[in-house]
Amino acid sequence: MLPAQVRIVEMGPRDGLQNEAVAVPVAVKLDLIDALAEAGLRSIEVGSFVSPRWVPQMAGTAEVLAGLRRRPGVAYSVLVPNLTGLEAAMAAGAREVAVFGAASESFSRANINCSVAESLERFAPVVARALAAGLRVRGYVSCVLGCPYEGEVAPEAVRRVAVALAGMGCHEVSLGDTIGTGTPLKARRMVEAVARDVPVERLALHFHDTYGQALANILACLELGVAVVDSAVAGLGGCPYAKGAAGNVATEDVVYMLDGMGVATGVDLRLLADAGNLITRELGRGPASRVARALLAG
Ligand code: HMG
Ligand code: MG
Repeated sequence: MLPAQVRIVEMGPRDGLQNEAVAVPVAVKLDLIDALAEAGLRSIEVGSFVSPRWVPQMAGTAEVLAGLRRRPGVAYSVLVPNLTGLEAAMAAGAREVAVFGAASESFSRANINCSVAESLERFAPVVARALAAGLRVRGYVSCVLGCPYEGEVAPEAVRRVAVALAGMGCHEVSLGDTIGTGTPLKARRMVEAVARDVPVERLALHFHDTYGQALANILACLELGVAVVDSAVAGLGGCPYAKGAAGNVATEDVVYMLDGMGVATGVDLRLLADAGNLITRELGRGPASRVARALLAG
């Protein structure tokens, strides 16, 4: 059984742009965010408060938050790895934040410079402080279907981190196939393991499309009742600490598939493709999304 509707969490301005070598001006990011909201997206991740030495592209996130043309009903979220990031995000007016951990030790060290256990100890006061200030907090688990350094990742390792994040008070835990190596049956088994302790209503799918498996993996997991999908317009993106990882599954591809199955998203595909054109023109290349390319050709 498929859910009647799916909430899409748009990653383009954050995951989509964090790995771009060319600095994208704040004004362009703001136009992109506005175009995504115009297309009907109601959850948009707009940047991150991380070390600018680690991820230079996200350095302007305070200006992005300050410049948002906020629309009612749209949630604009940012990543925060620690209390420093949370304080900066709150000072800049963030109302939704996300902490990000991993199911793999090596990736945790490469991405946030600490072990998995240390990261959870670090996140607990961040989540508590954010909740006390009335913010909503999301949690990510990376490497849920494979790690660039360690290969296979056990569903049990994913479950442990997801349970810890949910227990801290993250309203939702997003399961990241960071390097896109997952396949549908493995994706299902991973979600089933997590869902034993974190209800599917609180899970999201965050699949990168490196091996072209993301749509199939999403469909396999929607059948388990998950109804939140992370994706990036035009298939932008990749993680700077997961070499060779391609972008998130393209939002256009997800919307097209869900439209075709009668699953509501509230997103207008044409307006979404316009948002994709806006940013791919800026980046000087075409969209990775197959649907966007078909629309451009047609
Ligand atoms: P560290 O070097 O261990 O941090 O980095 P530290 O606490 O020792 O501080 C070192 C310096 O960084 C200090 O500055 C701090 O002030 C500064 P200095 O005194 O040397 O001038 N600093 C900060 N500056 C700005 N904002 C902050 C901040 N914190 C410390 N929040 C740290 C640890 C976590 C900061 C670093 O490793 C980092 O920034 N990592 C972020 C990496 C990242 O953004 N990766 C991409 C996002 S995750 C992702 O894409 C996966 C996801 O999409 C899901 C999936 O696909 O799987 C979510
Ligand atoms: Mg990601």
